[in-house]
Amino acid sequence: MSELTNADLFSPVQLGPYTLANRIVMAPMTRNRSSEGNVPTQLNATYYAQRATAGLIVTEGSQVSPQGFGYPGTPGIHTSEQIAGWRLVTDAVHSAGGRIFLQLWHTGRISHPSLQLDGGLPVAPSAIAPAGNVSTYTGSQPFVTPRALETEEIPGVVEQFRQGAKNALEAGFDGVEIHGAFGYLIDQFLQDGANQRTDDYGGSIENRARFLLEVTEAVCSVWGANRVGIKLSPSNTFNDIHDTDPKALFSYAITALNSFDLGYLHLMEASAADIRHGGKAIPVADFRPFYSGTLIANGGYNREKGDAAIAKGDADLVSFGVLFLANPDLPERLRLNTALNQADRSTFYGGDEKGYTDYPFLHSTTIV
Ligand SMILES: Cc1cc2nc3c(=O)[nH]c(=O)nc-3n(C[C@H](O)[C@H](O)[C@H](O)COP(=O)(O)O)c2cc1C
Repeated sequence: MSELTNADLFSPVQLGPYTLANRIVMAPMTRNRSSEGNVPTQLNATYYAQRATAGLIVTEGSQVSPQGFGYPGTPGIHTSEQIAGWRLVTDAVHSAGGRIFLQLWHTGRISHPSLQLDGGLPVAPSAIAPAGNVSTYTGSQPFVTPRALETEEIPGVVEQFRQGAKNALEAGFDGVEIHGAFGYLIDQFLQDGANQRTDDYGGSIENRARFLLEVTEAVCSVWGANRVGIKLSPSNTFNDIHDTDPKALFSYAITALNSFDLGYLHLMEASAADIRHGGKAIPVADFRPFYSGTLIANGGYNREKGDAAIAKGDADLVSFGVLFLANPDLPERLRLNTALNQADRSTFYGGDEKGYTDYPFLHSTTIV
């Protein structure tokens, strides 16, 4: 289905109802810089507005409920203060001429009792603890065994996503992206390493995809499908997620998503770390034949690789994570094929302006 095109990263593109100036997307990135109450701030607004020359910005994951909270300092989308905080961000990005989608997040078992209401256990499809450690307010601690959701509870979790989607609308976003990647709740339902349920949400691939499809339906009911995206990471191993047959699982899920006519599907390829941890990189191109809509490719792209993916028709847009974090004017730098700032990994998660809003632009800017 891939078709050669004349387009490249700098060609305008239609995404849902929006004509985007270029095909360079800022990938969602958790930066753990929300204020007390998990509320976005003016500093967050500045950071996103600095990056408004992206064809589209996708925000960091934003938890749809207290239950979906998994890391200190991440912004929520379930209180009126959080909605007001996000409004600062959407206003700033729109004033700078950008488009911005909110990423809707529920971390599931990637949490800890100290982050949950009343110190309860995090929830998941099955009571299987991921290997590794979780970040808490008192440092890194081993993951606990989560509580398996009762079948009767699942519609309520779907409702958390619907409410998050409504709140995002109120906060002035242009759309939402459902976080179905990286071993968080939706991915936990998808992959059999985390889902051993025996009800309608476990067992067969069709059953394991049910939660994803129900959440998608709920979110589309709020926004209309063409302003909804979804991110999946078929090759990812981060957060101890694995499946016995990821190619079959994700081919099914992606095929099923066609029927919604979504704004886009965002696919992350394996990272170098995933491959080191035994993951098999399934190229985005392998999934292209299963998806008829707009596809955003992600994972280790640069200008050359991005242009090639678009020209070959393997992707319609390309998202950039680390490069966008370190280069607020990434589209201009890619266009000029000029030097890029190097990212400072020590300031990725948490902190202040340092490593956040102080990466230099090629040319001076008024966004401070
Ligand atoms: C600091 C940081 C935080 C991230 N947080 C998220 C997140 O909240 N949601 C998400 O879907 N991906 C998250 N990612 C993954 C990126 O969206 C992207 O998939 C990944 O960085 C690979 O793209 P790249 O090679 O262009 O950086 C994060 C990545 C980084 C570096």
